[in-house]
Amino acid sequence: MYGPTEDAERTAFRMAEKKYKLYYDNTRKKKQPRPVDLSDVTDFKSISEAYHRNAELPSGIFPIHCDLHTPIFCLESHPGFYFIPGALPVEEQCRWIKESLTSFPQPPNRTNHNAIYGPLQDLFAAAKDNKVLIQEEQYCGTNNSEVEIIENDINVPTWNFFDQSGALSKGVTCKSVLASVLLRKLRWSTLGLQFDWSKRSYNISLPHNKIPDALCLLAERMAAPTLPLGEVFQAEAAIVNYFGLGDTLGGHLDDMEKDWSKPIVSMSLGCKGIFLIGGKSREVPPLAMFVRSGDVILMAGQARECFHGVPRIFTDKENAEISSLELLFSDEEDSALLEYIKTSRININIRQVF
Ligand code: OGA
Ligand code: MN
Repeated sequence: MYGPTEDAERTAFRMAEKKYKLYYDNTRKKKQPRPVDLSDVTDFKSISEAYHRNAELPSGIFPIHCDLHTPIFCLESHPGFYFIPGALPVEEQCRWIKESLTSFPQPPNRTNHNAIYGPLQDLFAAAKDNKVLIQEEQYCGTNNSEVEIIENDINVPTWNFFDQSGALSKGVTCKSVLASVLLRKLRWSTLGLQFDWSKRSYNISLPHNKIPDALCLLAERMAAPTLPLGEVFQAEAAIVNYFGLGDTLGGHLDDMEKDWSKPIVSMSLGCKGIFLIGGKSREVPPLAMFVRSGDVILMAGQARECFHGVPRIFTDKENAEISSLELLFSDEEDSALLEYIKTSRININIRQVF
């Protein structure tokens, strides 16, 4: 007999996650990534190239032609799932990478850091400038008596960025963390209607900004081929996921939105990864596919009920496939963006909630 955890470890979805996840073999000399067999990973880039050359497609995959510059590919096994290889031109990829790092994590949008540090302003700039996040002096250290503390505030430490020399003068008793470390540990930010991860629901009372118009329009354009003529996708919320080497997104369903006929529009940016689309239970073996910078996935209808996740990203030069981003981010002012994206993947997934 197996308990619930052991059972979960044995599902077909979990087995696929384990197959593709990054593990290290410890040889005597150094840590080596364990080699992984990628022969079963569907590659829509090469499928699309072959389709353009000779109009041939592997069985189980069929195209939809629309007014995007490229066909959309569908899977017979997964009605409601759409893959648009290279949907975003490289200039547009650069734009959304920049926004994902500079404006999307800005308050009132929340990030995974909120729960610990409260709202953080300008994390990316602080990391670039080598700043340190420090818990405000009046709440730590030994000279509390000199500082007037507002009574209600006493248990709410505030954190602020300082440059390194300022940090030293704050004394060793203060809690501190490098902005660059926080940037590396940025895992998500939420745009538009704020998603409350603890309750797994949208909390419409949380302050929020509207999703930028350009992103709404992009999502509307990408979603159009999946909707009946005249119906328009309304981007109301988005989750931005940030992946570094070894980071994964475990198998899950996105079932918190009211109308499942509307697709989730999911854009990949930066390093290549592996995306798994499974079935309605974790027992169904998932299909693995590569997701590259500029690819867009749409999940609507029945595909909304399918487990999916990201077990792997590739950050090595050969497999990351970000050379076109490297060309565009070649200016001095973009060097911090390039440094970040060379070893990261960003996913923006956009939802109509109501
Ligand atoms: C999600 C999601 C997929 C991805 O955030 O719900 O499924 O490609 N992301 O990162
Ligand atoms: Mn999802």
